[in-house]
Amino acid sequence: MSTESATLFLHPDRNLAMELVRATEAAAIRAVPFIGRGDKNAADAAAVDAMRKFLGTVNFDGVVVIGEGEKDKAPMLYNGEHVGNGRGPACDIAVDPIDGTSLTAAGRQNAISMIAVSDRGSMLDASTVFYMDKIVAGVEAIGVVDIRLPIGENLRLLAKAKNKRIEEMVVAVLDRPRHAQLIDDIRAAGAGTRLMLDGDVAGGINAAMHETRIDMCVGIGGSPEGVAAACAIKALGGLIQGRLVPSTDEERQKGLDAGLRFDYVYEADELVSSDNTYFVATGVTDGGLVEGVRRIGPIIRTESIVLRGRSGTIRRVIADHLAEKWLGELNLAGLDAD
Ligand code: FBP
Repeated sequence: MSTESATLFLHPDRNLAMELVRATEAAAIRAVPFIGRGDKNAADAAAVDAMRKFLGTVNFDGVVVIGEGEKDKAPMLYNGEHVGNGRGPACDIAVDPIDGTSLTAAGRQNAISMIAVSDRGSMLDASTVFYMDKIVAGVEAIGVVDIRLPIGENLRLLAKAKNKRIEEMVVAVLDRPRHAQLIDDIRAAGAGTRLMLDGDVAGGINAAMHETRIDMCVGIGGSPEGVAAACAIKALGGLIQGRLVPSTDEERQKGLDAGLRFDYVYEADELVSSDNTYFVATGVTDGGLVEGVRRIGPIIRTESIVLRGRSGTIRRVIADHLAEKWLGELNLAGLDAD
């Protein structure tokens, strides 16, 4: 046992994520009336409102580093906003009240509500550059896989490290035209793809977790999602690397002005420099990571994962909420009744 884990064992302390999960549960529940109703902004607004209210009850002094955008465009959970009750540890916080707003609006699978937290000043503020090229895999990939290598080579190396045949390897990729060559290369190497409509935070976590069918998650997705995923991957002990991809010269310049680096590989410790990370996610709709919100008679059931970097604990939290306590504010028509 390392000195730090021995200390944690002898002197257990507070797991902030156990309180934050109430905020992702609330956001997921409040998004339910909007599942499959075609209005992604309304779904997001309901989730943002709920998450913010619940965050206000948590004992911490959080600053939103990754949120709903700039203050003038986002009324709540904007970058720079202080959240929490102001007491307790000073933290950076990344929020995505719904990762998969389009999935939610369409009634598709794999939408989650998520929060990532780390020590104040430790999260990379990549908000000026929307996209990041990422590679995520489990612990076996550390010191083996590298985003600078061709995908086929990475797959061969990871398959060997996992004692698998390359034909057994499965790679999650966002289904986008920009990934056509990448997808061809994965298949040419002999591996299979899991094409995701949206939601590469869940894809990355699935790649780093032990019991899932996904071995690797690659491709260009949101840079905020990359930083949030890094908080989770640090807790899971996996590999994440990211390279910022500016869409325009103007964005590139904004990134440079903000101190960001291009043609540069950000390692996990640069995406989030602290090991004191927390990550929570609750399913909005059913998915490979967590089940979505469902109605079971008088109960609304949520499923969440709760990860903590310092201890490396991975919890699954199933919560049953008495529906009548939410009635009046929640149109339960959108919920599956089992
Ligand atoms: P939102 O639900 O917040 O819109 O994000 C969905 C998402 O799929 C992310 O998971 C991903 O990182 C990003 O969008 C990819 O962007 P794009 O849809 O432009 O390819």
